[in-house]
Formats: sequence, C-alpha cells, structure tokens
Amino acid sequence: MRGDYLNWPRLVEDALSKWGSVSVEGPFENIVVSGMGGSGIVGDVVKLLALERLSVPVEVVKSHIVPSYVSTRTLFVSVSYSGNTHETLLATARALEKGARVVAVTSGGLLERLAVERGLPVFKTPAGLLPRVSFPHMLTGVLGVLDSSGLTVASRAEVEEAKRQLEREAGEIAGEASSLAEFAYSRELLVVATHSPLEPLAVRAKSEFNENSKIVVKVDVAPEWMHNDIVGYEKPLFDEYRVVAFYDPDDQAGRGLVEFMVGEHERRGRRVRVLALRGANKVGKVLYAAMLFGLASVELALKRGLDPAATESIARYKSAAGRIFGTGPLKP
Ligand code: F6R
Repeated sequence: MRGDYLNWPRLVEDALSKWGSVSVEGPFENIVVSGMGGSGIVGDVVKLLALERLSVPVEVVKSHIVPSYVSTRTLFVSVSYSGNTHETLLATARALEKGARVVAVTSGGLLERLAVERGLPVFKTPAGLLPRVSFPHMLTGVLGVLDSSGLTVASRAEVEEAKRQLEREAGEIAGEASSLAEFAYSRELLVVATHSPLEPLAVRAKSEFNENSKIVVKVDVAPEWMHNDIVGYEKPLFDEYRVVAFYDPDDQAGRGLVEFMVGEHERRGRRVRVLALRGANKVGKVLYAAMLFGLASVELALKRGLDPAATESIARYKSAAGRIFGTGPLKP
C-alpha cells in the first residue's frame, strides 16, 4: 500500500485531466456532501476548504439521514467509492425524493447505476483501489465539479500547485511517516490533537490509524477541548496515552491553542510529537497531512505484522447493513 500512497500525484493529475467535465447549474442555497468513511472524509475537507470561500453553507452527511432543508435548491454530492454503501445510497434516494440536484462521485456499483438511470452527472474515479487510497482523486473530482458550477472552494491552479508539492516532497514525507509510525508503535492510546478548523485532518488521521493499523485513536480539537476534555485529563482512569499534535503554521491562534494543549500533556509527563503542516496552499496542507498519516499508519501495520489493506469488521457490518436499515441485501 505504500506505493499506492506515493502514487497520489498521479491520481491528482488524472482527476485534474477531467476538471470541468462535470458541472451543475445553480443557483444553490446549500451544498450537502454525503459519504461514509474514506468517501465521507471528502465532504469534511470540502467543508473545511469552503469555510472562507463560499457564501452558501456546506453540510456533511455521514449517515442515511438527510437534513430537512434539502430541496430543489440543494446541490447534493453523493460520494461512494464502491457505489454500494447503504447509508450513502439511502441518503441519495432521499435527496432525490426532495428534488435535490445530485452529482455522483464513484467508481461504479449501484450509485453509478442509479445515476445512469436518473440521468445524473457522474464523476468517475478509477476502480481497483481502496476508498481511503482514492481520497485525492475523489477530492479533486469534487473540487472540479464545484469550480465548474461556480462554487469554487479551490481553484485548478491551487490543486496543480498542491500536486507539484506532493511530487517534490513525497520522499521526505515517507521519512517523516516512518518516524511517526515509530512514535505511535506503543501500548499507549494514541491521541491526535489539533485546532479548529483542522478537525477533518485529525479525523482522517484517526481513520487511517483505525483502518490501516487496527488501533483505537482519540481525536482532540481546540479550542473546544479547553472547555471539557481538558478536565478529563486531570484524573483519568486510564492515563497511558501519547499525543500527536499538529497545527497550521499560518494560523497564529491555532498554533497558540496547540502549544497550550501540548503544555498540559507535557506537565503530566506524557510523550508528545508536534507537527507543523506544510503546503503552499490549503489543498497542499490537506494532501500533505493525508499522505503523512496514511503512510505512517501503513508502516505501523507492517511493524505489527498486520495487513494494512484488510478491514474485516467493516465487511461484517456491510453484510448486516441491509437488515439493520430494512432494505435487504444490495443487488449489484
Ligand atoms: C476506506 C474504507 C471505508 C469505506 C466506507 C464506505 O478505505 O474502506 O472507510 O470508505 O466503508 O465505503 P465506500 O467508500 O465504498 O462508500
């Protein structure tokens, strides 16, 4: 899987070659991005990038339930790598019932079939990868759809710059990832700490360590952390943990918040690894963090003698999902 992550600049390039191929006509009052796990994180990152750029709200749906305000004025982006995820299919069907304009991002499956039947635009992502590895392709695809629909959250030039950065720095990132894997290889609980609005990157780190390394991870986000979690660290029943903390060096308050968190952990004698995100722009910082945590989580799996690609329990859940949601098994 290491090679798959190191191949990300090629994935971004492929998605960039399709920039402008899918667009939707507005106007829109809101954008809803639906998806689970490795597909759902695309929505979180789009919301992060939209924060200072868009005047319409972006909501992320990581379940089968869609917000009541979804209407004909909603751009609903349905992201499912396999195209066969129950929650995403149910949310998409509900959004269609409410008259939303739906765009599908998928490698195939039932989502693609639904899109073809209903004449919906589709951004195709290449099959044969794991959803989490396909992240930069799906993200670039959604950024391209938004840009071509007059809802730019990142320009093509910014994504191109981010791709060049990944190309230049892949070797260095792999080195940092090995050292991070070394740090995370311990019997202590791994805590990933950051500041708003970078929560999606901490969630991505958590999910990568969950799925690739098969470990439990806690996510802490400042400044909300200062208003509850901080007290939980005063007298925890289980205090064997270590922290990976990261911040955006261009965000002075963010850096200050993370430094405060680090100080609290260090005065309790915990081990902390602090990272500053690198990148010429926000997309670059997102891809840097995602590649670093992706590679580190693969390394940790390999150190433990585990297969980073295997996610047995997700498959067990997926085979029960039809019963849980009352839809029966999917019929691809
Ligand atoms: C990531 C992964 C899962 C899936 C999730 C949803 O590699 O395997 O997190 O992304 O189960 O499935 P898809 O992405 O196919 O909709």
